[in-house]
Amino acid sequence: MAYLPVLFLPICFLFLGAGPGFTAAITLEELHLLMNQNYKILEEKVAKLELALHVANQSAGKNSIFRTCRETRVADPSLSSGMYWIDPDGQGIGDDPIYVFCNMATGSTAVPHDSESPTDVGHCSEPGCYSRAVNYVASNRQMQALAELSAQCYQSIKYDCYYAPLELNGISYAWWNDKNGVPQYYWAGSSNSVHTCQCGIDGNCVDASVKCNCDVAAPVQLFDDGFVTNKDVLPITRLNFGRTQLETSSGFHTLGPFECSGQVVVDGMPSSCEELWKTGHTLSGLYSVMGVSMVESVYCDFSKLPYESGFQKWIGFVDVKSSPVYFHVRNSANGFNQLFTPIPFGTEKLNVGGGMNITTGIFTAPRMGKYFFAGSGLGDFQSNLTYSSRLYVDVQLCKNGERIGVGVSDELSSSVWQTETFTVQVTVPLQVGDQIWLEISKITQGVSLYGNGFLQFTGFLLEEVISDSLKVRN
Ligand SMILES: *[C@@H]1O[C@H](CO)[C@@H](O)[C@H](O)[C@H]1NC(C)=O
Ligand SMILES: *[C@@H]1O[C@H](CO)[C@@H](O)[C@H](O)[C@H]1NC(C)=O
Ligand SMILES: *[C@@H]1O[C@H](CO)[C@@H](O)[C@H](O)[C@H]1NC(C)=O
Repeated sequence: MAYLPVLFLPICFLFLGAGPGFTAAITLEELHLLMNQNYKILEEKVAKLELALHVANQSAGKNSIFRTCRETRVADPSLSSGMYWIDPDGQGIGDDPIYVFCNMATGSTAVPHDSESPTDVGHCSEPGCYSRAVNYVASNRQMQALAELSAQCYQSIKYDCYYAPLELNGISYAWWNDKNGVPQYYWAGSSNSVHTCQCGIDGNCVDASVKCNCDVAAPVQLFDDGFVTNKDVLPITRLNFGRTQLETSSGFHTLGPFECSGQVVVDGMPSSCEELWKTGHTLSGLYSVMGVSMVESVYCDFSKLPYESGFQKWIGFVDVKSSPVYFHVRNSANGFNQLFTPIPFGTEKLNVGGGMNITTGIFTAPRMGKYFFAGSGLGDFQSNLTYSSRLYVDVQLCKNGERIGVGVSDELSSSVWQTETFTVQVTVPLQVGDQIWLEISKITQGVSLYGNGFLQFTGFLLEEVISDSLKVRN
């Protein structure tokens, strides 16, 4: 860019010499500014073209663009460490890919910035009188995506000091700003509340009364260095120092790249779009995830990041059963009248899932969930029953011996043969092994249940607690 003024000088002279009509039109400075703006626009266009070319180049080869260095290494373990294009927020979506250093031995990703070399903070006295913004080669969105995909992120920071404290007499002269611009006063570790350096954490600072070597503020060459490891607030976006006003005092900061490594652990089955994304899914669409008790259907929009609205849209429950469970049984024998005895059945029309035993008449739940049961039949009232004026038979539906439903069939005694229906229905949550049956709980003498297939019992698994079934079977 330095050649610009030289290049434009002759043109400017031309303008100036063009006559009175042109003298007020444009000054040398304005022209310079204009050309500068045009140059910036061109520079951006060239950078975009170069990026497109690089991306095309890397994609055309064996290596396409992955989200992190770790994923790049997984795809091709033979790659050696070096600069690679990656795209943490997904290829072809979101922000442009970024050019980062991949350590293929560890799979870590290092995002470079413009403040990595040792930098002199100069001389000034007030807290934070020296302040420098740190500019990364990646957008905040890309770095946030990288952090969310990684198990850990860290950034090394070193301060070489000569009579240049970070903190003195309770006054903080130095701090860094986190990704949200919030000032932070720790220079190692992840504790965001206390001013400390690595020597403060290890308890081996040059003076036991301080938390950082530099804080002794002595005319001795000292340094503090460490790794800031709080992934949630990194990267460091600004460095601030002060109290270096003395001619003899000096401070140099050295800030490492923003580094992330490892993969966030997703235990077991994914339960959200975020977990799908973390385990490598980048194609937007409908997915099944494991809910609290049932499988759920969600729409994942992977053009967004987990913390952005619209990333996950809940669709509904997926009605999936680990085994179908339903039965329909009928009796054949006439005249069943035994009290408090599970009613057996003669005919098995359907018995899928093996829950019903017609010999015992007992249904045993093979899966945990909500079930529906319905029993119906006829009370058989003969013409010669004169013991009481009201004749009846009560049939109850039992769960492990406890009544959960009842149906009644009754008639006034008569000299003609009568039958009357009863019906009982329940919807009930069951654990595996819970038992369900029909039994007579009350009956007048001589009354019985009419047979010939009129006594029917049906039931089915309405909704399974699939999470429980998965536990049982794994
Ligand atoms: C594309 O790849 C070739 C071969 O690896 C390399 O020589 C060239 O410099 C690359 N071009 C760009 C723009 O990265
Ligand atoms: C039904 O229960 C009886 C009595 O407990 C048992 O002998 C029989 O094997 C069972 N039938 C089935 C199909 O499980
Ligand atoms: C009523 O009549 C039936 C059928 O005729 C007979 O089997 C039964 O024993 C009689 N019961 C009584 C109490 O008389």
